[in-house]
Amino acid sequence: MSQLIISDLKVGYKKNEVIHGLNIEVNSGERVALLGANGAGKSTVLKTISGLLTPNEGSIRFNGDDIGGSSPADIVDRGIVHVPEGRRVFPALNVEDNLKVANYRKGPESLAEGLESAYAAFPILEERKKQPAGLLSGGQQQMLSLARAIIAKPKFLLIDEMSLGLAPLLVKEFYQTLDSLFSSEISLLLVEQNAGMALAHCSRFYVIRNGDLVLQGDSEEYRDDPTRLQPAYLGQ
Ligand SMILES: Nc1ncnc2c1ncn2[C@@H]1O[C@H](COP(=O)(O)OP(=O)(O)OP(=O)(O)O)[C@@H](O)[C@H]1O
Ligand SMILES: [Mg+2]
Repeated sequence: MSQLIISDLKVGYKKNEVIHGLNIEVNSGERVALLGANGAGKSTVLKTISGLLTPNEGSIRFNGDDIGGSSPADIVDRGIVHVPEGRRVFPALNVEDNLKVANYRKGPESLAEGLESAYAAFPILEERKKQPAGLLSGGQQQMLSLARAIIAKPKFLLIDEMSLGLAPLLVKEFYQTLDSLFSSEISLLLVEQNAGMALAHCSRFYVIRNGDLVLQGDSEEYRDDPTRLQPAYLGQ
């Protein structure tokens, strides 16, 4: 089971409240997109779920437990794994060490298997395993970010802007990898600028604007023409 229920969440940075009472639900095995314009608060929501920010009000329940304000380590232990915006790899560490760090809560016995599945997904990472991650191309750094998530064996995956700045062909490849790698039991909350891509890979979506929920629905209704979401993004 991996169900997340966010209720009346208010959170921000010091006195600057960014999310003003958000309600979002992701059921076990569901893939849900969190959409919105730049600065809407999407990353802030993911950072709060993964324990980097503490809610001011409201609750975040994972399988019934309120995890709001728990430490990032506790949240990873529960199986919630965050692939952050901007390919946060450790640039000075080599590729393999980046992967080893992602495994540290799993214990050494699962490392070999984890590395094997990561390299099977992205063979180029094995070829470059001794190179500093900072020397990889943007696409390869994104592969490394995803490979780190594979190693962490998530029950619930948070992915922030996986396709930003990547060539369309590579984006398509990433989404195919995502579909094949992470089984249907893993729940996904996906933040994406590319609404078409998000709708294609998620069954439901939420749109937030200035920290408020402005639209939610079934992706199916918008797949033919994702531009119909624009008024919600922009408040028109
Ligand atoms: N570390 C921070 N300190 C203070 N304010 C922040 C910080 N990070 C984000 N904000 C503010 O919070 C608001 C929401 O930012 P957030 O990064 O969550 O938006 P987003 O929807 O992820 O945008 P983008 O699509 O550009 O990634 C913005 O007004 C932003 O300026
Ligand atoms: Mg963001």
